[in-house]
Amino acid sequence: MSARILDGNALSADVRAQLAESVQQIKARGVTPCLVVILVGDNPASAVYVRNKVAGCEKAGMRSLRFDYPADTDPKLVLDKIAELNADDTVHGILVQLPLPPQFEEKEVLEAISVDKDVDGFHAENVGRLSQGQRAFFPCTPHGVMKLLAAGDIDVSGADAVVIGRSNIVGKPMAMLLTQAGATVTVCHSKTRDLTAHTRRADILIVAIGRPMFITGDMVKPGAAVIDVGMNRIPAGLPNEGKLCGDVDFASVKDVAGAITPVPGGVGPMTITMLLANTLESAQRAAE
Ligand code: GUN
Repeated sequence: MSARILDGNALSADVRAQLAESVQQIKARGVTPCLVVILVGDNPASAVYVRNKVAGCEKAGMRSLRFDYPADTDPKLVLDKIAELNADDTVHGILVQLPLPPQFEEKEVLEAISVDKDVDGFHAENVGRLSQGQRAFFPCTPHGVMKLLAAGDIDVSGADAVVIGRSNIVGKPMAMLLTQAGATVTVCHSKTRDLTAHTRRADILIVAIGRPMFITGDMVKPGAAVIDVGMNRIPAGLPNEGKLCGDVDFASVKDVAGAITPVPGGVGPMTITMLLANTLESAQRAAE
């Protein structure tokens, strides 16, 4: 049997249509949600993400501003810009695209952003609030995964969930959100012994390791929901070389899993959608 496809493009279009309506409502009250995106350096993947974030805002009727800095920028310039944006009441979200060049201290930059404008949810205070179940901005990718699970009627409460990857951007906040939704969560990573023993137990398997087509059908429990956060290129020498692929070997896993996200068209579109949702929420809080 072939797994149900959890369609991130379709869900994203639905959520963005609702967001666009809410944006019109808050604009009618004189507030235009505004996201500022800061990009330092010339990482080509970051440039694509930033372009998509700015375009997503504009399509939803929000304002977006973009500040680009060369790779050798003095961090103080960026910190000064963040301070200026923190003080600007017309700005509701501030995002600094990662990774930053080596002269930057990532933590210093992320924590310079006002907690109330930290729509990426990376500030230590937002991370702490999330871990304590308080109101916080949730990091966009794991937040999008939770929406995909909900829209796909996947029962999270009581499920055995396995997250592969322990990054601050995906793995750790993902584990936190699943725990809060009632799952029993295991976080696996590069040091995990016998990964397959863990993945085969998972009712929900979230894969965020950045290794093309790493999870194969024999590693998956029959009927499991498999969420692929990976975004890679198919390595040279394999069929469809150079095309986009996830961390999951879709061809073999789809015959075992009960539900699966494709790459592209699964988690990816949800990430920017949740960024727009966080920006709108920030504007709504500011207008309260
Ligand atoms: N780099 C990779 N993913 C992200 C993200 O979600 N936000 C930011 N700011 N940088 C990233």
